[in-house]
Amino acid sequence: MDKKEILDKTKQFIFKSFNGESTGHDYYHIERVVKMAAFIAEKENADLFTVELAAWLHDVGDHKLNGGIDKSKEMISHFLSGINVPDTAIASVTEIVSQVSFSKGKTAETMEAKIVQDADRLDAIGAMGLVRVFTYGGSKSRELYHPDDLSKPTTINHFYDKLLRLKDLMNTPTARRIAEDRHQYMEDFLQRFYQEWEVIV
Ligand code: NI
Repeated sequence: MDKKEILDKTKQFIFKSFNGESTGHDYYHIERVVKMAAFIAEKENADLFTVELAAWLHDVGDHKLNGGIDKSKEMISHFLSGINVPDTAIASVTEIVSQVSFSKGKTAETMEAKIVQDADRLDAIGAMGLVRVFTYGGSKSRELYHPDDLSKPTTINHFYDKLLRLKDLMNTPTARRIAEDRHQYMEDFLQRFYQEWEVIV
């Protein structure tokens, strides 16, 4: 199987697994991460095939989507060996995916992992970040905002706990540049949110 066929089969597998997912990690999130990762990979001269393959698979088996248990390594290996991808390539993809997640707290070491991580993080900020954070908050029955208790895990607090920190965590210059613009969009949104919350007209 050539590289294009592997990517096509992977895309089909991801569509089947994630289509209709409703917490913000749906098929189209993954498709955007693949496009963004490919864009960054070209700018940074990284290996495009490895980046695209890892980007397609980056949310497979994620603990958030599997009742708190991380099954990514076994699920990715199972899928890729089923389409006859060589063991060495499987090992490199599972290693990249294990370095991508924010919550696992790992550092992205390879260039490919840095790029997929940047692409995933870019999809968590800007307008896309806004819609996804409210969707995710809704799926967890989180309060929107609590002006008298800022320690509560509200959706607005999630901006401060995570989203507004992502700009400074980007690995590549290309992602850093895109993040600046998306970050500003969220700052503008929050300013407007507080203004409307206080009914300042
Ligand atoms: Ni993701």
